[in-house]
Amino acid sequence: ILAAAIATIAAASIALPLSAAAQSPIIIKYSHVVADQTPKGQAAQKFKELAEKALPGKVVVQVFPNSQLFGDGKEMEALALGDVQIIAPSLSKFGKYTPKLQIFDLPFLFNDIQAVDRFQASPSGQSLLNSMNKKGITGLGYLHNGMKVFSTTAPMNLPADAKGMKFRIQASDVLEAQFKAVGANPQKLAFAEVYQALQSGVVDGQENTWSNIYSKKFHEVQGFILDSNHGVIDYMVITNTKWWNGLPADIRKGLSQAMKESIAFGNQVAIKEAEAFKAKVIADNKAKVVEMTPASKAAWRKAMAPVVKKFEDEIGADLIKAAQNSNQ
Ligand code: LMR
Repeated sequence: ILAAAIATIAAASIALPLSAAAQSPIIIKYSHVVADQTPKGQAAQKFKELAEKALPGKVVVQVFPNSQLFGDGKEMEALALGDVQIIAPSLSKFGKYTPKLQIFDLPFLFNDIQAVDRFQASPSGQSLLNSMNKKGITGLGYLHNGMKVFSTTAPMNLPADAKGMKFRIQASDVLEAQFKAVGANPQKLAFAEVYQALQSGVVDGQENTWSNIYSKKFHEVQGFILDSNHGVIDYMVITNTKWWNGLPADIRKGLSQAMKESIAFGNQVAIKEAEAFKAKVIADNKAKVVEMTPASKAAWRKAMAPVVKKFEDEIGADLIKAAQNSNQ
């Protein structure tokens, strides 16, 4: 009996560290480039809260904002290497992985964020979440930020005013073509470098959402903002397919649900708070905010229309049509 008891204790003491190891939580790193107060920042925090509540002791989510862990240019590689598990790059930053997502950069394609939402929810939009599966990337969902506006050092109302100005752009060939269409000089720069580039005069302007402009203080180093809503900055929340599929089924299910809810939360923030961020920029009284008149909008639309034609073959005419239809 004694021997059996000793054997049991011995087995237990060996088994204990092993089972403790098996139960140690899975660490999930969620890295992004914007501030905590933005829709993406808030959605990432919400995901942490929901995932840890749904899977207590099983997962720990670490959120890294402000390009702290990885910035543009490094985060996709880090995801492939397993150094980060969840990232949410802007849809403008997937050009190297799939030409299809370039659709979101086409100027004046979507009238507003509601149209973007309808397109993303449509079968065409949903199918794009799987457009990078062969590259080992799984799309967990779309996340809104909002419509873009232009900020510049010098006044800019009509497309002719943009001629010769240098603009920071995200890493997107469509955005490059968009600025070239009005005779401007686009320059691809990581998000973390934008403030410095504007402040030092490396570039004269940029395009972004109100939440990014306000939280990164771009309006403090710019003279003018043209409220153009000429395009969208939204995200795809993505993960490493191999890592995701290798998770225990109950954990993957819990994380999927937490992601779905965190995206719904972030989307609400995006839609509700865009105007509030704009109001804060105006209240700061640093850059002059100019509304775009219908006549000016028509001129910009006309000047940038060739960009849609230029990328039609790469993106697909049917997909563009589906996106246009989401405006109704
Ligand atoms: C940008 O680079 O301007 C944006 O994509 C940043 C972001 O993640 O919203």
